[in-house]
Amino acid sequence: MTQLLTRLVYISRAVGPQTTTVTTQILETARAFNSAHHITGVLCQGKGLYVQVLEGERSVVNSLYRRIVADNRHTDTEVVSFTDIPARQFQSWSMALVSLNIDDPMVSMKHPEFDPYSATSPAILSLINDLLSSGTAIQDPA
Ligand SMILES: Cc1cc2nc3c(=O)[nH]c(=O)nc-3n(C[C@H](O)[C@H](O)[C@H](O)COP(=O)(O)O)c2cc1C
Repeated sequence: MTQLLTRLVYISRAVGPQTTTVTTQILETARAFNSAHHITGVLCQGKGLYVQVLEGERSVVNSLYRRIVADNRHTDTEVVSFTDIPARQFQSWSMALVSLNIDDPMVSMKHPEFDPYSATSPAILSLINDLLSSGTAIQDPA
């Protein structure tokens, strides 16, 4: 069967503070499931927000997203984009963690007053890439 490779990007608001404990729990679950199911991506978190990219086989991404939406650690989940992709962009990470530090000078210059709920999907992807390449990114191998 041919694999349909998809990228889904969504945004959400954290319920409660985004403590290290919460982040560690989310990442432990994410990395265990994602590496077993060939899901790759990045989770940006900070300022009470999450921005996540999920790449993988379409039906796997769909069912994972349904579980993520039902998670009561966040709310106001909104799909930003859902696209067929020829190749993965984040193939090195089962789930990279990036701090959504929009005060980072390099990032804020290119994305002044960034609000994911009113940003276009190219702007969101561009922010994620800038965060990943800036010094503040916390990058973890898959
Ligand atoms: C912001 C956020 C991102 C998450 N990302 C993932 C992920 O990439 N992969 C994953 O398996 N679970 C992820 N989770 C956890 C799922 O929402 C869910 O708790 C987990 O899949 C277990 O689901 P279950 O309790 O229905 O079995 C994430 C949760 C949150 C709040």
